[in-house]
Amino acid sequence: MADLEYRPGLADVPVAESGISFIDGKRARLEYRGIAVETLAQESTFEETAWLLLKGELPNQRDLAVFDHNLRHHRRLKFRIIDLIKCLPESGHPMDALQAGVAASGMFYPGREVSNPEKNWESVVRLIAKLPTIIAAFHRLRQGNLPIEPRDDLSHAANFYYMLFEEEPSPSISRLLDACLILHAEHTMNASTFSGRVTASTLANPYTVVSSAIGTLTGPLHGGANEEVLDMLEEIGSVVKAKSWLEEAVESKKKIMGFGHRVYKVKDPRATVLQDLAENMFVETGKPEIYKLAVEIEKAALPILGPRGIYPNVDFYSGIIYQSLGISRDLFTPIFAIARVAGWLAHWLEQLKNNRIFRPEQIYIGKMDRPYLPLQNRP
Ligand code: CMC
Repeated sequence: MADLEYRPGLADVPVAESGISFIDGKRARLEYRGIAVETLAQESTFEETAWLLLKGELPNQRDLAVFDHNLRHHRRLKFRIIDLIKCLPESGHPMDALQAGVAASGMFYPGREVSNPEKNWESVVRLIAKLPTIIAAFHRLRQGNLPIEPRDDLSHAANFYYMLFEEEPSPSISRLLDACLILHAEHTMNASTFSGRVTASTLANPYTVVSSAIGTLTGPLHGGANEEVLDMLEEIGSVVKAKSWLEEAVESKKKIMGFGHRVYKVKDPRATVLQDLAENMFVETGKPEIYKLAVEIEKAALPILGPRGIYPNVDFYSGIIYQSLGISRDLFTPIFAIARVAGWLAHWLEQLKNNRIFRPEQIYIGKMDRPYLPLQNRP
């Protein structure tokens, strides 16, 4: 055992062979099944991208129509799930409500037998379809309003917006949200995906797999960073303070939220696309102060953090977009989950194809061969 090398955070340790997505962290390249994420954000829809991730190929017209139809058909929640969500504290975080809702849903669709591909596909469709409804229902209920029934005539992204605001989004907002979902749908072996794969490797049911992954996504070092970016920008307060705040933060070894990545040593390509989307959105409305401040922070960070390979990641600009759409801050990470469930499930199916239970090693650093002292003899 002495010859085992310990790599904190499993850095650079492959834990699976995967054909789902690829990152080149030096060239700012992210591909889903070989297709650049920028192209997908521009050309595709979330529904089509989800199919690509799950099946490995872009769907033909018929496959996409059936998949889209099935997603729309499965958006509704069992009334008992709504009742369960009603019982959750309104001050609780929507990610916790989502995790509880997903885990509880598994009891209605037991599917403990994961060797049946048809049943597995039904679970995939149900999970992708229902996550937005669970989040929107919790959000409405905590505001004292009744949940809004999903609408079958709207796309995945547009329907989510509708269930939050009881208002159809404009085509440009719908497209913007759709692009955000595409950009967040998959990202190789990140913490939540790994967590889901570990759970999958025990042959647990897919609802449990996804609820494990949701729990892992909540943390501020992972999906939770998008909320913290906004808190940080508000704390800085104004564009004029950007440079001095950043210098002081770096000096005091404070982590800049929305910056840094285990794999990217250049600006995250998703951050670049999100920033372009934000710029486009602000052409009509004018740039909000918070966006100007974020740009200023990025500029100030470039000469200090850039040489250390620390650049904006996906979370740096996403929250600014969601906030501009009037979306509550604590829904930013749930939106990440609505998208990432496609990637998690693609990894679940991939794990099942060639499964071996995860059982890594540890390096024991504790005491050994100690005598047992009876209670009355202990000091
Ligand atoms: N601000 C300042 N310094 C940083 C930052 C940052 N955001 N990120 C990394 N560093 C420094 C860190 O202090 C360390 O310095 P030193 O070598 O002097 O000790 C060095 O860079 C390596 O950092 P690390 O934390 O050991 O790197 P990691 O690969 O373990 O962690 C990370 C990656 C994303 C957790 C980290 O960059 C971070 O905490 N960033 C802020 C939180 C954040 O934005 N998370 C979202 C990640 S992207 C979306 C997602 O995965 O959900």
